[in-house]
This record gives sequence, structure tokens and C-alpha cells, in this order.
Amino acid sequence: MKHLFLTAFLAALLTGCNQKNTSQQESSGMTDSTTTSAAQPSGAPRLAERTAFQKEVDGKKADLFVLKNDKLTVSVTTYGGRLVNLLVPDRNGKPVDVSLGYNSLDGYLTNNESYFGTLVGRYGNRIAKGKFTLDGKTYSLPVNNGPNSLHGGKKGFNARIWNARQVDDKTLELTYVSKDGEEGYPGTLTTVVTYTLQDNGIRIDYRATSDKSTVVNLTNHTYFNLNGEGSGPIGDHLLTISADRYTPVDTTLIPTGELAPVEGTPFDFRKPTPIGQRADADHPQIKAGGGYDHNFVLNGGQTETPRRIATVESPQSGIVMNVLTTEPGVQFYGGNFLTGQEVGKSGKPYGKRHGFCLETQHFPDSPNQPDFPSTVLKPGQTYRTTTVYEFSTK
Ligand code: BGC
Repeated sequence: MKHLFLTAFLAALLTGCNQKNTSQQESSGMTDSTTTSAAQPSGAPRLAERTAFQKEVDGKKADLFVLKNDKLTVSVTTYGGRLVNLLVPDRNGKPVDVSLGYNSLDGYLTNNESYFGTLVGRYGNRIAKGKFTLDGKTYSLPVNNGPNSLHGGKKGFNARIWNARQVDDKTLELTYVSKDGEEGYPGTLTTVVTYTLQDNGIRIDYRATSDKSTVVNLTNHTYFNLNGEGSGPIGDHLLTISADRYTPVDTTLIPTGELAPVEGTPFDFRKPTPIGQRADADHPQIKAGGGYDHNFVLNGGQTETPRRIATVESPQSGIVMNVLTTEPGVQFYGGNFLTGQEVGKSGKPYGKRHGFCLETQHFPDSPNQPDFPSTVLKPGQTYRTTTVYEFSTK
């Protein structure tokens, strides 16, 4: 018996050492927060295992990091900088994983199209026909969504291994250097994204610089379900968005250029409204998106510091999520294209509208829309935006 304990103890020690030695990432050192088993609150949904992510992609080893405080647990993989787990207490204090995704790297590799939990770049959302002109030169991007280029092209930042530096048990810094011409975009772009666990939420700071004029629009594509991932449709969630206007789209989801009032339309979320109430409304824009898949023009435009732009609450779990951002827009995507083929981390299928995204951003197709806030980044400038997802209960 004693021998068994000793063997187990030595094995545990060795595993710890291996994790440190085999990690290609620059890390400030092993803490409890980097070993998933130690970080798991009792009775909580299962956190992904670190070893299920320590696999090679394009010759670089992926990894998984955990940020944790007394209320929240967040795990992030360096593959796409994806948020893999987001554990939040419900109104009874029971931890709920409110983010859709997989518990292994293989899951994400097999289904890259849904963009679960991922950082998106260089250009979150669509660029019409995969073309734009900058300083008199026309650039062609890979077309991967009907006639358009979506979320940075065929192999965007979601499909890249980011370098990671775990600053402490609350902060993870991810860096990705995208070469000049990658996915058709000009300029070598260095992007640094920091995930910081706050008392009540997760803050995401985006920074980028380029050696040539280029366009950038970074976001995070987490699908939320405040009743817990895998628990069915999100139609009961009450959504509020501080937007008097939105950007109507054509049938390929490219903005027409108009900033249309939400007043009197299914896009009026200025007061808390169940997402499901008008998701199939007889409205041409709802038909175009197959439900909600639209950019909202946030009141107050781009700001220096993040301000609250949206709130979502689940009457069932009591979980309330506030979204704060410095960005001028947010894509509210209601999970219309989830099919149920995607079986998530707890073995349950993700069907149509079983999750929603609030992708803070500049407007879609801005490089082709001179009247939209500019997404051009010039050498010497620093792109900076911040978004916070904050949690409480009711
Ligand atoms: C887009 C959707 C798309 C989804 C997954 C969202 O940002 O607006 O149309 O299906 O991402 O790719």
C-alpha cells in the first residue's frame, strides 16, 4: 500500500516535470493553474486535459493553459488562442461551462468551420468577394464563404499556433506573427492578445503592429450558452444591445452600406428581449441571415475604454453576462449554422441556435466601405482594442 502511494506520488511529480519540460511555450513556471486536474472545482463540469492539446500542428506543439480564481476557471489553447472552458457559477453557486467547444485539439482540428472559442484574424467577419484596395493596390484574399472571404481566409489566426507566455495564474499573453502576404494580406503583422482573468470575468486586450499598411479586425468567436454548453437552444436568453442602428446585409451577408434604425424591427434589442422571440420573424433581414447574423452599430462608436454594450441573461441558470468593449460594432450571431453534427465536449450535439456569439469588432467589409470606421493600420501605429465578458447572477 505504502509502495503504491509512493509510486503514485513519484509518477505525479514526473508528470509535472514533463509538462514543464515538454512545453514549447515560454512560461513563467508551473503553478497549480497550469495543471488542469488541480484547477478543477469539485462537482464542476470536466475541464479539458492538458495532454489532449499537447500535439503538433504544422511542426509547432500546441498547449493548454488554465486561468483561475475563486469564482471562474478559464482554459485557453494556443491553437487559435481558443477559449476551451469557461466555468462560471450559476445562481446556486454551481459551476457551469458556458462556452461551446471540444475537450481535445482533435475536435478543433476536425471542425474549424464553426470557429468555436477562437481568436479571429486578420479580419474578423466578411470582405466582399475577397478583394480590397489599399493605397492604390488591389489585394486578393482566399474566398471561403460563398463569394466572400470570412474570418481571415482559409487559414486564419484560428488555425495557427500562438506563442504563449503565462504571466501569472490570471494572465496569459499570446503572440502570433503573420508574415507579409499570408492569406493575401499585406505587411508582417505582429499580434499580441492578452487574456486576463478579472474578479468577475475575462478581459481580452488585442494589440497589433504592421511593417506595411494593412487592414485588421480582431475578435473572439466564443459561442455562449448561459444554461451550459450542450443544454439546447438559447432562445430563452434575454438579450440587450446598446445599438440604435445595425448594418443590413445582402444575401451573402455583406453590408449594403446603410446604417438602418433598429426601431420597429426584430433588431431592436434596446430592452431585454428573448433571443428566440423574433429569430424567425417575417423580416427580409432575418431571412437573409437565417436568423440573427448581423453587425450592430454600437451607440457612442469606438471608445478609449471599454463600456458596456450588451447584456445577456438566462432565466434558467440566473447567469448574467455583460459585454464591454472599445469597439464600434458587435456581430450578434445566433448560431444558425450549427447543425447538430458537432458533438461537443460533454458528448452532446450542438444543434441550430444552441449557442450565440457577440463578436466585438469593426464593421464587416469595412475595407470596401469608405463610410464605415476605418480598419487600416499603418506602420508606426498600434492597433488596440479591449473586450470584457463579465459574469454575475440574478
Ligand atoms: C458569421 C456566421 C458564420 C459564423 C461561423 C460568424 O461570425 O457571421 O455567418 O457562420 O461566424 O463561421
